[in-house]
Order: sequence, then C-alpha cells, then structure tokens
Amino acid sequence: MPEFEEARQEEIRRVPNPCVVVIFGASGDLTRRKLVPSLFSLFGEGLLPEQFSVVGVARSDMDDDAFREHLKSGVDQFSRLKSDADNLWPRFSQRVFYHRGGYDDPQTFKSLGKRLAKIDKEIGGACNVLFYLSTPPGLYPVIVEQLGKAELARQKDDYWRRIIIEKPFGRDLASATELNRQVHHVFDEGQVYRIDHYLGKETVQNLLVFRFANAIFEPLWNRNYIDHVQITVSEEVGLGSRAGYYDTAGIMRDMFQNHLLQLLTLVTMEPPAEFNATALRDEKVKVLKAVQPIKPSEVNKYTVRAQYRTYRDEPGVAVGTETPTFAAIKLFINNWRWRNVPFYLRSGKALGSKVTEINIQFRHVPHLMFPLPPEEHLPPNVLGLCLQPNEGMNLRFETKVPGAGMRSRSVDMSFLYEQDFGKNTLPDAYERLILDALHGDAALFTRSDEIELAWSLIDPILEGWAGKHAPVLAFYESGTWGPGKSDEFIQADGRHWHYSCSEG
Ligand code: BG6
Repeated sequence: MPEFEEARQEEIRRVPNPCVVVIFGASGDLTRRKLVPSLFSLFGEGLLPEQFSVVGVARSDMDDDAFREHLKSGVDQFSRLKSDADNLWPRFSQRVFYHRGGYDDPQTFKSLGKRLAKIDKEIGGACNVLFYLSTPPGLYPVIVEQLGKAELARQKDDYWRRIIIEKPFGRDLASATELNRQVHHVFDEGQVYRIDHYLGKETVQNLLVFRFANAIFEPLWNRNYIDHVQITVSEEVGLGSRAGYYDTAGIMRDMFQNHLLQLLTLVTMEPPAEFNATALRDEKVKVLKAVQPIKPSEVNKYTVRAQYRTYRDEPGVAVGTETPTFAAIKLFINNWRWRNVPFYLRSGKALGSKVTEINIQFRHVPHLMFPLPPEEHLPPNVLGLCLQPNEGMNLRFETKVPGAGMRSRSVDMSFLYEQDFGKNTLPDAYERLILDALHGDAALFTRSDEIELAWSLIDPILEGWAGKHAPVLAFYESGTWGPGKSDEFIQADGRHWHYSCSEG
C-alpha cells in the first residue's frame, strides 16, 4: 500500500486517548436514543480506546444496573449494531456507570470527581473527560459553574477536558452571548464543542467534498450562472410530546437558527485553504457576516409564517398560540460571489414527507436557437442535492426527444449513495461528532462567534413577527407542503419550489 494511503487508513482507524464521557441528562431521551447508541456503535467498530467508560449523571433514582438496562433497550431500538452482536453489550455495559445527583448541588460534582478518580484506578483513562450537556438548556449555566467550582474543567498539558453543548444554544442573541460568557468563564473556547447534528450527517459533509474536490461545479457556483438556491428541510412529524420546549421556540429557533443557516454557509462559503477547524469556521463566519439581515419592518416582504391546523389542539400548547411550525424566508448575501442571488429557505413540521434537499437552479440559456411557442422557456438546469433520505444528487438537464424535429425534454443524471456505497453505510451523525470531539477536532462544531452571528440574523425576524409588520399567520393542513402562501411567496418572483428528491 502506498505510504500516503497507509497513513490515511491509520488516520481513519485512529482511536482517541483513553477517556471518559460524562453525560448530564443521562435519564433523558437523547441519551437513550442517540448518545449511547452512537457510543455503542463506535465501541463495536473498535473506534474507542480500551480504557473507555461512560458516566451518566441525572436526578432520577437509579443504580448502575437499572441505568444499563434502560440504555440497552435504546441500543436495541436505535443503534446500528444491536446489543447481542458479538457479545458486545456485556463488554460495553461494564464500563457504564450511573451517578445520581442534583445539578445545582456542589456535592454531586465533588462525588463525581471522586468517581472519576476511582474509574481512573480501576479502568484507567479518566483523566481525559468529555462532558456532554444534554439536560434542558436552562440548566447549562449551573452545570458549567459547578464544573468550574469543582475544578473538573481544568486541563493540563498531559490531559484534556472538553465539553459538548447541545442545542438550543440560547434563545436569542442576548442569551447566547450571555451563555458564551458563562461558558468561557470556566472553559476556553478550544475546549467547547457546540453541537449541530446536521454537520455530523455524511451528506452535509459531502457538500464540502462535492464543492471543493470537483473542478467542474465550482466555476459555475456564483451569481453569473446560478439563478437562485432553495433549501428545504421538511418533516412529517408534528409536535410530539415537546410542547414545553417547542411552543416557546417555534420553527425559527428550532430549525433556522442552526440547521438551515449551517446548510446555507456550507453551500455559499469560499473555499478554505485547508480542512481544519479554524480555516473552515473562519469562512463560515465570513459568509454569515455577509448575509443581509431581514429588518423587522421587512418581514412581510421576505418571510412567510404558518402553523399546521391541528397544532392548537396539541396537549401543552398555549391557548390561541401563534407559534409558527412552518416558515419560508428569502435571504441575500452581499458579497462578490452571491450579489442579487436569492436564497429561499423553508422548513416545517407536519408536512407531506420528511426530506432535506438543496436545489441549485441555474440561469436560462442566454440565447435560444430552437423554436419554442411564444412566452415559453426551456426548463433551466437544476442540481438537486438530496441530504436525506434517498441520499444522493440529481442533475436535471435537457435532452433531445428521439425522432423528427428538435423537441427536448428534461432528464436526470443521478447518483445514489446506496447504489455506490451499499445499504446502511451512513453512520449516525452523533457517531461522527462524538468521535471528533474525543479526537479534539472541532471543525464540525459551531464556534462562539458563529452562533452569535446566526442569532443576529434570526432576532430581527422574530422581532418583526412580534410587531406590527408581521405577516398574517397562515394555516396549513397536515400532510401538505405548507400553506398556499409559501407557493405564492416564491411564485411572486417568477419561480417555484423544486422537489428533486421528493414527490412535490
Ligand atoms: C432537531 C429539532 O434539532 O432536529 C427537531 O429540534 C427536529 O425539532 C430535528 O425534528 C430534525 O433532525 P433530523 O436529523 O431528523 O432531520
């Protein structure tokens, strides 16, 4: 094997230093559904060190055995590898411990320190610790403060301490800035990993490879050739049991501030010189700075907000709630590459299907040599990037219909992950992100300035929606593609929503 390939294989198989993952919010849904199943898959694939353990911290009354049982059912339901594979579960579960305690109780953290010291003696590796905040966000400040007071955040040259912080990171610019301040009081920015699970998705990372490892698209990737871009993240599920959080958050905070803006940055940023955390995040920050904020007085022109018709009947939502469960917005990026190219972003719950897709619509041909009826255009080329499900991409272009004359028809050139790489080869986003954090690679995590910039784009929209310029809240039937207003919104610009990866 050539030397470079050998080094690359070694890099892929590289195992982090001996370590412990301490999960706050251990009895919660995310731990059972995502975090532990991901750790289990990593363990099964030999990507975790021999000296590795997990400590779950929560207030519920449980012992180690009860905690392990609770997690096992989650692994069976949600992990890529099942608990009976290769006798893995007994080997994994003996490294899993439960630590009961209140998050504001200094005693919890003192005894956690002792527990880590004990694990270090028995299993080893408990000097390097990754804390994972997966509690309700209101508890983040107190946990961070207590970690600081108990001196658990302090790292030295020969061991590290890191923290992953789940979303939502704040609920507006002011609270996100304050949270950054509280976190920085205890942890250096280099120790902080703010998670956006969309960045852990293979297809989202592929946006970088697609753009920057191919020579043919990048020259077209600008205002001279692109008419506009659409980013759609639609979900079939409605509110579920999350009224407490969602009814005060709404679609803008829940999906746009993080996932949709992250997708926007990856599609639009300039090529970083290297693939590393600083270079990548610098470019994302630059493009966020160039996004033209929608002023509160402009929300009627640039946004649509809507709610699915049965939302107000969901248990736990406020009477007559105006919380939007769907939004469409139009953004512009004021830089050389993107000047005057509209970006239409939409997302909603209780829609027709679950799909995340990005559509790049290219400009019409400058001159038509084939006869067409008056007022008719040839359909433009559209590149559809299908991020989930049916991961892949389609390039739509015109082809001559066989036979006499010069009639053309749109056809697709398609790539499907499943066809080229096989079924079920895409790891869960959390696997990649947790492993990166254990390796100390923050490239796929959000930096403090990035998160504040994202909020600074969302705040004025929310302010506008709460004021006299707010567009009327539209209503839509569950299982549709949102309100008619969303179609009118884009049609007013002479365009329509694309469904390259879904049935429109
Ligand atoms: C979460 C949101 O961040 O992302 C949820 O809080 C949403 O409301 C979820 O359902 C969507 O993630 P995915 O990976 O299923 O597209």
